[in-house]
Amino acid sequence: MPGHAIAQALLTELQRQMNHELGAAHAYAALAIWCFDRNLKGFARYFYKQSAEERAHAQRFIDHLLDRGALPVLGAIDAPRGSFDSLVDAARHARAMEQANTAGINRAYEAALATKDYPAQVMLHWFINEQVEEEAWTDEMVARAEASTTPGGMQALDRHLERYLADRGYEATE
Ligand SMILES: [Fe+2]
Ligand SMILES: [Fe+2]
Repeated sequence: MPGHAIAQALLTELQRQMNHELGAAHAYAALAIWCFDRNLKGFARYFYKQSAEERAHAQRFIDHLLDRGALPVLGAIDAPRGSFDSLVDAARHARAMEQANTAGINRAYEAALATKDYPAQVMLHWFINEQVEEEAWTDEMVARAEASTTPGGMQALDRHLERYLADRGYEATE
């Protein structure tokens, strides 16, 4: 075991956030499925990409815990919300999830500060930056969805997103 064991208060926070990221992966998969069912294939692709990213976030916590000699403990994941009134509703749901996730990252960081755990602080810096990006794109997505409420406008936005992702190599819809 490495010399610097993780204090219990911080360990609890890191385990909680690891499971929160897995919950986010599940929630984005539900958003992708709903969009696919509504023929919003650009949004479906985008939400699947987000789901994969959230799983990679959880893995960062898993790797950190293992490197520090702590056993990551996976918990039960709540069933995510799977139906939405509209694309605007779905986009707002994604934004609310990211805001809640930022709060969770901040709580973990506060525990890392309180326990003077420098490796965990550095690991969490990546997430603090990541949440700035995550909140920026969900804000943009809500604004764009709100601005294209006609069926034609929504399909145009969806096609735009599909082209944007295809140009960047995200071909698979899973
Ligand atoms: Fe995340
Ligand atoms: Fe996220």
